[in-house]
Amino acid sequence: MTFLKSIRTISELVEPHKFPFSIPILSSGLNLEFSSNVTFFVGENGSGKSTILEAIAEGCGFNHSGGNRNHSYSSTDTESDLAAALRFSWMPKVTNGFFMRAESFYNFATYIDQIAEEDSSILQGYGGKSLHHQSHGESFLALFVNHFNRGIYILDEPEAALSPNRQLAFMALIHELESSGKAQFIIASHSPILLSYPNSVILSLDGDAISQVSVQDTEHYRITRDFLENPDRFFRHLFEE
Ligand SMILES: Nc1ncnc2c1ncn2[C@@H]1O[C@H](COP(=O)(O)OP(=O)(O)OP(=O)(O)O)[C@@H](O)[C@H]1O
Ligand SMILES: [Mg+2]
Repeated sequence: MTFLKSIRTISELVEPHKFPFSIPILSSGLNLEFSSNVTFFVGENGSGKSTILEAIAEGCGFNHSGGNRNHSYSSTDTESDLAAALRFSWMPKVTNGFFMRAESFYNFATYIDQIAEEDSSILQGYGGKSLHHQSHGESFLALFVNHFNRGIYILDEPEAALSPNRQLAFMALIHELESSGKAQFIIASHSPILLSYPNSVILSLDGDAISQVSVQDTEHYRITRDFLENPDRFFRHLFEE
């Protein structure tokens, strides 16, 4: 089920020339409904996916650099102007969940090691050993399997850690949690595999306004398919003198 039903910006707090409203897709604010348990953001690099996810995570009360309500390891973060302008509509409100920011997973792992020095049982929740002693994909799946349960999960490019095979396993875990009504996922992704998740909603940031698209309409799907069907055609074009 969706816990977070919608988000919208208060128009008086949208300052179009100031970051992050200077990002084209945010220039007139943000107004989104979450109608599926699994929502993806797609868009070109720099289109604003991480900016939006971070603001949603802040609104959920999760640490800006990744983690949940109880994790506060980056005291330098201040509330983003987008988070300050957003209003959230919940039914019911949940406080449990997690924000995974791909770039700061390393810092998160270090933080977990630090708190585990005082209470080693903490590591049980992360696959039984330090996240630094597991590979990127292993540590991510350990976090997911041991920690994700009921709540809202905000994930920024989870595929960065995962082989295609593990992406499939990851989707089985998503399915287990979302189809039983336990969890809602909001995910930024460039992976045509993940984007194919059934009954998800894909919101594209490419264009004048955020719009819902099918996976087949995404560049991620089309370019990957066309490339794999005939790589030489792409290389001839790419490498021509
Ligand atoms: N603190 C900042 N001040 C000004 N501009 C910023 C700041 N942080 C990010 N930007 C810009 O905002 C835009 C959106 O960045 P964002 O990280 O949200 O993109 P993204 O869609 O997540 O891209 P990617 O697919 O590469 O992860 C980019 O043009 C980026 O350069
Ligand atoms: Mg990003």
